[in-house]
Amino acid sequence: MAQRRYLLDEDAIPRNWYNVAADLPSMPPPPLNPGTGQPIGPDDLSPIFPMGLIQQEVSAERWIPIPDPVRAIYSMWRPTPLYRALGLEAALGTTCKIFYKYEGVSPSGSHKTNTSVPQAFYNREEGVTRLATETGAGQWGSALSFACRLFEMECKVYMVRASYDQKPYRRSMIRTWGAEVVASPSPDTHAGRDILEADPASTGSLGIAISEAVEDAATRDDTKYALGSVLNHVLLHQTIVGMEAREQLAMAGADPDVLVGCVGGGSNFAGLVFPFLADKAAGKDIRIVAAEPAACPTLTRGHYGYDFGDTAKTAPLLAMHTLGHGFVPPAIHSGGLRYHGMAPLVSHLVHTGLVEARAYKQSECFAEAVRFARAEGIIPAPEPSHALRAVVEEVERAREEGVEKTILFNLCGHGNFDMAAYDAYLSGEMVDTELPQAELDIAAAELEGLPALP
Ligand SMILES: Cc1ncc(COP(=O)(O)O)c(C=O)c1O
Repeated sequence: MAQRRYLLDEDAIPRNWYNVAADLPSMPPPPLNPGTGQPIGPDDLSPIFPMGLIQQEVSAERWIPIPDPVRAIYSMWRPTPLYRALGLEAALGTTCKIFYKYEGVSPSGSHKTNTSVPQAFYNREEGVTRLATETGAGQWGSALSFACRLFEMECKVYMVRASYDQKPYRRSMIRTWGAEVVASPSPDTHAGRDILEADPASTGSLGIAISEAVEDAATRDDTKYALGSVLNHVLLHQTIVGMEAREQLAMAGADPDVLVGCVGGGSNFAGLVFPFLADKAAGKDIRIVAAEPAACPTLTRGHYGYDFGDTAKTAPLLAMHTLGHGFVPPAIHSGGLRYHGMAPLVSHLVHTGLVEARAYKQSECFAEAVRFARAEGIIPAPEPSHALRAVVEEVERAREEGVEKTILFNLCGHGNFDMAAYDAYLSGEMVDTELPQAELDIAAAELEGLPALP
């Protein structure tokens, strides 16, 4: 019988996070202070982040030790399994080998707990008692609510209105672990009230929810802000995914030709691929593919330059691919991928050609998610269905070229709370939104006058 699962003991949970900054041929341009336009330093970030995380944000050390209390909590679900997708391979009739790292076994059902736990830990160490955050799909909000419970902290989650309405059980999860959750834009902040005044029916966006959470943290002494993606320290925490996968692939005697992840802000993708990147930069023949929604095509149709990380222009200016900080993506079912920007590290890798980006429509992604569920059993979250679509494209390409490839992708979450989205797909009601170039041009116009890249 062919082996399906590759499992590691608890003792194999990594002892360090891997910092890709130590091995990249070049780094992205630095973040800028939104007021002065100058590169930001620790003092700019200290009102909203604890020093432990700020140090990680700017570190050039290759290995950053994982504190024992964080490792102990990781052992609740880590190491996560690596699967050989034997069922999917059979369904596709391919001789390619397909592997997936399954992060849906975490308590909240996605990779997000890999960073929510250390974020809560470092804040608690420095005496912070309350965290404020945004959430798109509700995956990050539930992961942070879980982590705050473990460290006996309060938590407030600003949940993008579109997801708040689509995913009521994510709200229930957030409340079960003890956090407060409100729909964003909300009447609780200046940023939210301004947006509601201009558009009372706003479906919200991650950019708006970030503005609300940053304002909450900046205006209360007991509160700091936690971000579920984009920043260097968040991507760093996710690298345990790729580090474990490397060991598990070695157990399987496999060497990947292609790595695939979906991208919203870039963290699950980075977590899987960064530990393989030094090999690629040193000339190893690995293709790395980032899959995003056609309804929010940041990497494939966005502009590469400085932009604000949030809609209210309070967050730092980041060097990234962006659709414009005011861009409100159509209300697709992959709430976690509705972000106007991208992690500067991921943008830089796309810009320098180490990573390829592709965009897919949601119905073609759900078709693959359903095929996967029927072949492998697990129901994927809508976000990684984009990675699945890219995997199938890779399989088709290998067939055309007459080669056998080994493909690894990150199945970064399950979709057990996303059944309304599956219902929409299965009943033929799912709509694919076309984004006319004119709409993107209007959003990009707001980038004029912002600092140029060096
Ligand atoms: C399951 C899942 N996958 C992917 C993402 C996108 O985030 P990132 O690109 O940081 O992994 C999210 C974000 O909420 C998510 O919930």
